[in-house]
Amino acid sequence: MQARIVTLPGDGIGPEVVAEGVRVLDQVATKFGHHFDFQEHLIGGCAMDATGKPLPDDTLEACRAADAVLLGAVGGPKWDDPRAATRPEQGLLGLRKGLGLFANLRPVKPHPALAYASPLKPENLAGVDIIVVRELTGGLYFGKPQGRFTQDGRTRAVDTLDYSDVEIRRVVDLACRLAETRRGRVTSVDKANVLASSRLWREIATETAARYRKLQLFHMLVDTCAMRLVAAPSSFDVIVTENMFGDILTDEAAVLVGSMGLLPSASLGEGTLGVYEPIHGSAPDIAGKRIANPIGTILSAALLLRYSLGLSREADAVEGAVDRVIAAGGRTADILDPKGFGNPSGLAMSTREMGDAIIGEL
Ligand code: IPM
Ligand code: MG
Repeated sequence: MQARIVTLPGDGIGPEVVAEGVRVLDQVATKFGHHFDFQEHLIGGCAMDATGKPLPDDTLEACRAADAVLLGAVGGPKWDDPRAATRPEQGLLGLRKGLGLFANLRPVKPHPALAYASPLKPENLAGVDIIVVRELTGGLYFGKPQGRFTQDGRTRAVDTLDYSDVEIRRVVDLACRLAETRRGRVTSVDKANVLASSRLWREIATETAARYRKLQLFHMLVDTCAMRLVAAPSSFDVIVTENMFGDILTDEAAVLVGSMGLLPSASLGEGTLGVYEPIHGSAPDIAGKRIANPIGTILSAALLLRYSLGLSREADAVEGAVDRVIAAGGRTADILDPKGFGNPSGLAMSTREMGDAIIGEL
């Protein structure tokens, strides 16, 4: 097949990891007889430096016209002034909103060979296979009013947690469809004992899931979920939750797999267009050192093949190659076993070497 893929490397380690994602997709194209056409555009801090805007118009236009988007990361200390009117992160939020990508899928499935990299006990990690569906274009990130103002001589700031029934229904619906292809358990996470938006969320979630006969729906408060994610992670199948709860819970869930560098994500909307990005950030402390783990991005490329291009065999092949490289002891610095177990050389691979190993397995 022919596909147009826009790449948005962004800031920090973004360019290093996206380069490996592209090389893996190129290898998939060669092996399976596809043609992928890549077009690179600016987003985030580097876009602000070049154009003054974190999401230049031509970037959004190119993404709209593409079949899929592969993104690295945005942000960094250079653009971190809390009083600045423009921030790199606005580029990412504008992209999600501009493309109508309301559901962010974050699969969490620890590799047995990496159990040492997680602070959790190996027996608690056995059988963990979770997909978090994070609502992506509503909630605190976008609610109005938002901002800073002065009232009665005090400086105040406000953010608004706002959801409509339509926004809740469509993301819960997507989570239910996903759960039908898995173990059929949906946990809807909210804070219904305190928040009005969560009470609406719970009501709509119940109504939506009722249309799926074979599914079991559970409601869980977000604080309880935060605890159960580390205490009994294998009890979860699909988790669906609002934007900020999902943001926080997925960083926590990264602890289960051993490194933020391993987790991919897919941002989806009504059509097949999606944005695929690792859940880690721009990691300015290691940017340019060529030691970043590209696996989160490479697994994001696999999700791109599966969800935007409908190439599930190819997606399985990429995921299988990653699994085998890890099983054979391939390690970047973030997942290096201090005892050298499973990795006879005891040496960390560079970003490029990890990419090469995965391409070799393909
Ligand atoms: C994520 C990130 C972003 C978010 C930031 C960079 C805006 O933390 O994708 O999880 O909060 O959505
Ligand atoms: Mg986050």
